[in-house]
Amino acid sequence: MTQNPDLNIALIGCGTVGTGVAKILQSSRESLRQRSGRSMQLRRVVVKNVAKQRDVDFGGIPVSNDIRTVTDDPDIHLAIYVVGGISWAREDVTRLLQSGKDVITANKALLYAHGAELFALAGTMNRTICFEAAVAGGIPIISAVNTALTANRILSIEAILNGTSNFILTRMLDRREPYDAVLAEAQARGYAEADPAMDVDGTDAAQKLSILTQLAYGTRVPLEDIVRQGIQQIELLDLLVAAELGYRVKLLATSRLAKERLEVSVQPTLVRADRAIGMTSGADNIVSIEGDAAGLLRFSGAGAGQMPTASAVMADVIDYATGRAAITFQSILRLQGQKPIPLQPQEELSRRYYLRFTVADQPHVLADIADILGRNEISISSVRQDETADIEDESGVARLVIMTHRTTEGRLRNADREIAELSSIRGDRIRMPIAD
Ligand code: HSE
Repeated sequence: MTQNPDLNIALIGCGTVGTGVAKILQSSRESLRQRSGRSMQLRRVVVKNVAKQRDVDFGGIPVSNDIRTVTDDPDIHLAIYVVGGISWAREDVTRLLQSGKDVITANKALLYAHGAELFALAGTMNRTICFEAAVAGGIPIISAVNTALTANRILSIEAILNGTSNFILTRMLDRREPYDAVLAEAQARGYAEADPAMDVDGTDAAQKLSILTQLAYGTRVPLEDIVRQGIQQIELLDLLVAAELGYRVKLLATSRLAKERLEVSVQPTLVRADRAIGMTSGADNIVSIEGDAAGLLRFSGAGAGQMPTASAVMADVIDYATGRAAITFQSILRLQGQKPIPLQPQEELSRRYYLRFTVADQPHVLADIADILGRNEISISSVRQDETADIEDESGVARLVIMTHRTTEGRLRNADREIAELSSIRGDRIRMPIAD
């Protein structure tokens, strides 16, 4: 980093987060200077569509659609890269590092997919990558794992890491609003990804969990090794039954050390309503992290949205300006070399489960399902079926909810394959673990 009193910044991307960053750079100029000791100058902006009307006025700052305006400008020290996607982003960040720029990014998909390669390049080029905003929006969890908790062996991470899906689950239950309407509102509020499928199918949370797991345990976990389910099939009925039983349904991301192996999953999960995770509502995120020395710590707050995410980006900018970021990045690079902890095979994950079936309202259906569960050594803890209309020709359907005792993911998958073959099954089969 040049010892220049001015810190010359390029902003690449001016969507939800980029706009928030520009707003803070403009509105908090003096306090940023006081906290960092340097005057922050936004020198260049790169966007896809230069002609687009924006929520922020760049005055005389050059706005281009060509990243070479940044890579070719020797006066730019730092690039704030807040563009989504993977392949272009990989190319852009590679070029930025190669041209001697340090990089701050909120792009978790990029870090998940190419973090190791980009970190290695940054190390070689003696550059720094900061990424606080990539995980859990405004919550300083990257900083906590990389600095405050480094004296600990991390025992478990249990988290809500996707604001959009938490917003949907909360609104559906609290206001009885349908899934599609709530998703549209999450998009309008700027919580959702450009492709909201990644929010609701668990991909976004899994990418973030993978980044946290790598930092906490040194283990790279590809998405295919994470037991992963989204919230798309969850119905209001599931949320109501869970609530009656004292639970909330949360898209829970878990990375846990069990007998020297890591259990990693992202699944809609029944969590006790009176636990901090169960009480985390709206677009908030929470990360409960247990260290062997610090014990259980909980970080919660806005996990998505323009200003919380921009706050995390700007915290990185200040860390960069003071020189702290470069020191932290070096220690992240050293940690990359630690011996990874092996993963627990998915089939061996052991939990209690909530199962919900929509079935033909006919004789022997419950017995058939119970038989399959029993033959797969799955013990039932409770069964619930509300009274159905007395239709003479048995054309009606019934909703059947079964809670199991502790069993393995493997046994449940086997049982589910058999249950799917029953002619009495109608529609989706829902399976959620229970985190007591
Ligand atoms: N789409 C993300 C979420 C934004 O809903 O959590 C923050 O990464």
